[in-house]
Amino acid sequence: MNYILMGPPGAGKGTQAKKIVEKFGIVHLSTGDMLREAKKSDEVISKLLASGQLVPDEIVVNMVKKRLEKGDVKKGFLLDGFPRTVNQARELDKTLKSENMKIDAVFFIDVHFEEAVKRISGRRVCSCGASYRVDFIPPKVEGKCDACDSELIQRTDDKENVVRDRLDVYEKQTRPLIDYYKNMGLLVNIDGLKSESEVFEDIKKRIIEAK
Ligand code: AP5
Repeated sequence: MNYILMGPPGAGKGTQAKKIVEKFGIVHLSTGDMLREAKKSDEVISKLLASGQLVPDEIVVNMVKKRLEKGDVKKGFLLDGFPRTVNQARELDKTLKSENMKIDAVFFIDVHFEEAVKRISGRRVCSCGASYRVDFIPPKVEGKCDACDSELIQRTDDKENVVRDRLDVYEKQTRPLIDYYKNMGLLVNIDGLKSESEVFEDIKKRIIEAK
C-alpha cells in the first residue's frame, strides 16, 4: 500500500497523514518535515522555505530517493507534499520502478484558496508535532501546547503574504500533477472542505475498498 497525498497548502495533508499512517501502519514521508529539519543546517533551504518557494527538484528528489532505500518503506508508505512538480513525479516513477514498487492511489484533497489562507494563517504548531488553529480549535491555554505544555509557534511561511505566494507556486508548479495522475488512472478526488473526521472517513473508505 503506497499512496500520495496531494493538495494546496492548508488542504489538510499533514492532518490526514497522521491519521492514515496510524490506522494502516505505513510510513509517513513528508518532504516539508524533512526540509524543516534540513533548514536548521542549510541557509539556502531555510531562505526558500521562508519565502514559500520550492526547493530545487534535484535536492528533494535525492532526499526522497535515499529515504525510499530504507527497509521500513516495504510495509507501505504515504508521500505527503511530494511530488510537487511534473519533473519530481517522473523521477519518482523511475525510482519506484527500479525498486520494484508502485503507487496505488493519489489522494487529491481540494480546498479553495480563501479557506487555505484562513486555515494556515490561524495555524500554530508545537515542536512535538501537535497543530492548532487559534480561530477554530484553539489550545486550552493560549500559546501553550495541550499535549506537552511547550510554547506554540507560527511557521515562518505561515504569514499571510507568504501563504499567498505558496498558493501561487502551487497553482503554477503543482496543479499540473492533477492531470498527470488522472491520466495514469491513480487520482482520487477528496472534498477537503468537510470536517477532519469526514475527510479521513472518505480516504479510509477508498483505501479499504481498494485492498
Ligand atoms: P509542506 O510542509 O509540505 O507544506 P504545504 O504543502 O504548504 O502544506 P501545509 O503543511 O501548509 O498544509 P497541509 O495541507 O499539511 O495542512 P494541515 O494538515 O497542516 O511544505 C512546506 C515548504 O517546504 C514548501 O512551501 C516548499 O518550500 C518546501 N517543500 C516541501 N515539499 C517540497 C517538494 N516536494 N519540492 C520542493 N519544495 C518542497 O492543515 C492546515 C490547518 O488546517 C491546520 O491548522 C489544521 O488543524 C487545519 N485543518 C486541517 N484539516 C481541516 C479540516 N478538514 N477542517 C478544518 N480545519 C482543518
